Amino acid sequence: MIFVAMESGYSAVVLDHFEHPRNAGEMQAPDAVGYQTNPVCGDTMRLMLRISDSTIRQAMFQTSGCPASIAASSICTEMIIGRRLEEVQDLRKEDIAEALGGLPASKVHCSVLAADALRKAIADYQQRQAASTTRA
Ligand code: FES
Repeated sequence: MIFVAMESGYSAVVLDHFEHPRNAGEMQAPDAVGYQTNPVCGDTMRLMLRISDSTIRQAMFQTSGCPASIAASSICTEMIIGRRLEEVQDLRKEDIAEALGGLPASKVHCSVLAADALRKAIADYQQRQAASTTRA
């Protein structure tokens, strides 16, 4: 399987995160959720965040997709845990692809999934905050 993946041009970092995904699974009662479908291929990612003091304390993901999308989801969680929302809200697909050691040209779109799911999760958190402020 690794041989097949390497034949397709994946970096060692992509293979590591694909075979040993970090922070995969479901989070109970997250503070924010971002769900995104890749318009190119239909693969999906659900990103769940635990946030306090505007800082991401925990991040977990559920991704249904190709090896690159799973690796991108995994490394994205590592890139955002412990960071403040304003530090990560502009995280780009290029940043994720670079952290993965690059992606084959045909797979560059796969890093969009994690970047967009993160943006949606942050928007979800901001909406929840605004709603709780309005109720208070
Ligand atoms: Fe769909 Fe990679 S082929 S995200």
